[in-house]
Amino acid sequence: MLQMVGAVREGSRESSPSADMTTPKRLANRYQQCLENMWLDICEIKAKYSEVDVGVGLPDYPPSEYIQRTLSDVALEGNEYLQYTRDQGHLRLVKAIAALHGPLLGRDIDPMTEVIVTHGAYESLHTAFLSLVNPGDEVILIEPFFDVYKSMTKLVEGTPVYVPLRPSVESPTSSADWALDPQELESKFSAKTKLLILNNPNNPIGKVFKREELEVLAALCIKHDVICISDEVYEWLVYPGAEHVRIATLPGMWERTITISSASKSFSVTGWRVGWSVGPKDLIDCQMIAHQNGDATCGTPVQEAIARCIELELSRIDQPDCHFTQQRDDLLAKRDRLVEMAREVGFKVCVPEGSYFLMVDWTAFATKEMIDNGTDATSDFQFAIWLLKNHHIATIPPSAFCEENKHLVGNYVRLCCFKTDELLNKIKTYFASLKPLEDV
Ligand SMILES: Cc1ncc(COP(=O)(O)O)c(C=O)c1O
Repeated sequence: MLQMVGAVREGSRESSPSADMTTPKRLANRYQQCLENMWLDICEIKAKYSEVDVGVGLPDYPPSEYIQRTLSDVALEGNEYLQYTRDQGHLRLVKAIAALHGPLLGRDIDPMTEVIVTHGAYESLHTAFLSLVNPGDEVILIEPFFDVYKSMTKLVEGTPVYVPLRPSVESPTSSADWALDPQELESKFSAKTKLLILNNPNNPIGKVFKREELEVLAALCIKHDVICISDEVYEWLVYPGAEHVRIATLPGMWERTITISSASKSFSVTGWRVGWSVGPKDLIDCQMIAHQNGDATCGTPVQEAIARCIELELSRIDQPDCHFTQQRDDLLAKRDRLVEMAREVGFKVCVPEGSYFLMVDWTAFATKEMIDNGTDATSDFQFAIWLLKNHHIATIPPSAFCEENKHLVGNYVRLCCFKTDELLNKIKTYFASLKPLEDV
């Protein structure tokens, strides 16, 4: 496989690799372990064949106009918002975050010491890894996991320890059908375990962990004195029927949990790069040391704009016109439409309880022999490539989110429902070209 420097982000507009992007000779050792990039092969093929993209994980239309207008207002308001702001987070924003998350976490949050603003959730994760993991420390990653967890663990010379979500039934119809095996989970904890990385709701399955499942995780964290990094960027995208329990609210967990969220998902502005962590002062202090010696401070206008947006949403948090509720309801309708479209054509759908992703089982359309392209790629990658070449539909192979248990998701591809109605219509047309094998 071609190697290249840095990550090709699955959602990046500039995600097509160029042929000359090989490993630079002068690259420092610490990045040598982070070169593997599973998106590369598929990016090249996608650039050539994709006509409709139902995989890429970002909104393809802007959020509510007021959100955009808030930023343009701020940008024109004079010098105050055009200069550096407080390193740990713009004052108005940390206050807004504390006011928003206090009730969610069931405690008063000190905006000055228990919140840090970062360049997206990415930097919250990065500063947590940099400031908490020593070489040789073990980091438990729940498969399938958001792909950067692994490279960030390796970058700080930690050891990733994988534990899979396993389907509890032969053909899962809901993300709730994927669960951790408590004994297997327990076997992964040791004296060397430093962090548990939880992603709730989870990308790519859309699982929302139940209270009982979180209690098992919490008990193990407490028993082994492990810090939990809870990536909850999809916290506002939990659909009716599921309840988003924040692990930091369980007894004994606040003091050992960093809860991460972001404007990328809450306000659908992935390009603004505003994220944050909320947690006990000593853990936020650790992140702050990494932040101050790296990115130092985040953009002032985007922080001011997000602060104003949060303030507005807080003033109508329980009302139907609250952006978080409206966005969730819009996406619920889109989720249901995509589920129906996928089922109609013959995919077996695993309906997500949260996030904007859904996993569909593709095995009705092709045998492993049909998609075998002579490489050692996993079957989901081979199907995704087959689908691109034969039907011009781009999807995401979920084994890219796994390391040791790729086989568990080999029969699936991940779709994203955060698409305009026009694009969903177009996807429907392209789906119509697919015929289940038994009908051929
Ligand atoms: C689970 C998860 N965590 C973190 C991020 C990164 O979010 P941000 O854009 O705030 O950096 C993503 C983006 O797709 C994600 O899916």
